[in-house]
Amino acid sequence: MSVYKNQRKAEAVRADDPYKKLSSVIRQARQNISQKVMPGALCLRLINGDGPTQLQRLINGLAPEDRDHAIANIYTLLLDQRRRRELGAYFTPPHLVNHLLSRLQQFGLDIRKHRIHDPAAGGAAFIVPIARRLVIHLKAEGFSDENILSDLRGRLSGMEIDRGLAVVANALVRRMLRGEFGLKLEREFSLISQGNSLKSEDDEKVDAIIGNPPYGKVGAEGNKQWREKFSDIAGGQLNLYSMFVRQGLDRLKPGGLLGFIVPMSFIGGPEFSLFRKRITEMADVLAIDLIEKRVDVFLDVVQDATIVVLQRKFDAPKSIVPTCAMVQADASIKNLGVPIVTNDGKPWRLPSTGLLEGGFRLSDYGYTATVGHLVANRQSDRLRKKKNKGDWPLIWAKAITSNGKFDHKRGLEHTDKIWVTAPENAPYIIRKACVVLQRTSNRKQKRRLNAAAIPKSFIKRHGGVVGENHVIFLIAGEKPRITPQRLAILMNSDSVNRRFESMSGTVSVSAKLLGEIDLPDPALLGNMNRSNAEYVIATAYAKSFFGQQVKQSSSPNDITEPTMQNRGAKGEESLGSVKRLYKAGRETGGAGYMQSSKLYALCGTFNQIR
Ligand SMILES: C[S@@+](CC[C@H](N)C(=O)[O-])C[C@H]1O[C@@H](n2cnc3c(N)ncnc32)[C@H](O)[C@@H]1O
Repeated sequence: MSVYKNQRKAEAVRADDPYKKLSSVIRQARQNISQKVMPGALCLRLINGDGPTQLQRLINGLAPEDRDHAIANIYTLLLDQRRRRELGAYFTPPHLVNHLLSRLQQFGLDIRKHRIHDPAAGGAAFIVPIARRLVIHLKAEGFSDENILSDLRGRLSGMEIDRGLAVVANALVRRMLRGEFGLKLEREFSLISQGNSLKSEDDEKVDAIIGNPPYGKVGAEGNKQWREKFSDIAGGQLNLYSMFVRQGLDRLKPGGLLGFIVPMSFIGGPEFSLFRKRITEMADVLAIDLIEKRVDVFLDVVQDATIVVLQRKFDAPKSIVPTCAMVQADASIKNLGVPIVTNDGKPWRLPSTGLLEGGFRLSDYGYTATVGHLVANRQSDRLRKKKNKGDWPLIWAKAITSNGKFDHKRGLEHTDKIWVTAPENAPYIIRKACVVLQRTSNRKQKRRLNAAAIPKSFIKRHGGVVGENHVIFLIAGEKPRITPQRLAILMNSDSVNRRFESMSGTVSVSAKLLGEIDLPDPALLGNMNRSNAEYVIATAYAKSFFGQQVKQSSSPNDITEPTMQNRGAKGEESLGSVKRLYKAGRETGGAGYMQSSKLYALCGTFNQIR
């Protein structure tokens, strides 16, 4: 059945779907694309109020900042998706923009006085709200329209590499100024210039750099191009966002603030060691805030983003204690405490995210983590389609199924070569019971840790296995405390994944960090199996933390994991009461995302038809 028919079928099923009508409008928009109408043209029509009727009506029903967010997203949905990924064009929802602005104001940003720049302006997600707030102030102080506009131009700027997006962003700025404040503007009034911020020669110092820069490794070409300019942060592969942070700091006056939404990878990633070191030389870390959810925050990507606020150092040293808060699902803020930020390049540590500490490590379980040996594209001559004498099963990341099973042949979905020639005595052949984990998780995957036990019978049949470089093995030592099957279940659990996420934000998993994950007492996992896993593991953490007095709740059905905040005197709490408190806290979440979800439903419908 074609995608189109599938879509029709889905629409018929969702007859009461409020976005159903939108689908036909979007289909019309798609026809426009085939007629070579550019994304910018459709967005400008939507901004001017003469877009396709139904889409326009839906967009007009949104609050101004959500409307802008929707239009910017529509632009990116119309882009060639490869181009979109290259640009890193995933836009910040309004509640995170507001959070970052409040954070910067809390640390001294004064939008009435300061000069502010967004080097990756996208659809003006930051520029429009800052300009709005500024105009409100200036109007209240009696400034003339002309002075307001010249003030805006002098103190607020953005740069965007994509020409069409820069045009749309400026149109959004103009619509806000005209529509909300009745300001009279020239047709060309703009705050966002088109250009590559990383190549920009503009070195005029500003008071604040704000935004959400593009993310992504720059690849071999990019490394060649940028390594010299960014040599002081280029430990491993350069990442676009670290270059934006580094460059942003250069443009700040002493005491100036940088507030960015960036991936969490810089906090613990080994390849960011030089970056961490250099950043702490140049700036003080004022805040590292976390975002409770990783799905439905940015449209179309699952991203562990964090909000970081840095302050360019003054000449005289100041002693600054960084803070860490959680932007919760209902957009409220919860203070988490003090992150540990060192200036020696070692991983920084976030304060406890409220999860109970189990106190055990992988080594206490009798396992060690090691990365798969074979870099396939460098040793392709050793790969085989069929097994011959002297060949071993080659374990690709694909061999780990999404439900935590091991399936060697699934590697065939990635390549036709799932055997490798290796000398009988090669030290990298794994001959013991083990768990295999994917070294990188796909952004669409819900879990970061994806593990499967390799059955003993498989190892026995082939004498051992060789790992491709995108897997990590957890290998049992002499006396493992639990079986590889149970360890795989544990690694795939929500409880362990949440703890891992609080340590590392990247989609890649390092063997070193696996060794650092906080685990519960292995003795408490004896009766764990696939169906009761979440319950047994959550209980095991609670028991490890509170002591054995914790009473078992009678029903495992509604178990949610207790947190530090809910603890009473050690050992006195029953799991039931901890659970109730925790649930009560959780159930308040959700509302802040409703508006974003609505927008994403809009854009999601749009995407399906493409
Ligand atoms: C993650 S998006 C964020 C956009 C917007 N600030 C927001 O928060 O919604 C990053 C933006 O940076 C732009 N961009 C990518 N590389 C750039 C560069 N070298 N110079 C300027 N802009 C760039 C992309 O086109 C994209 O619009």
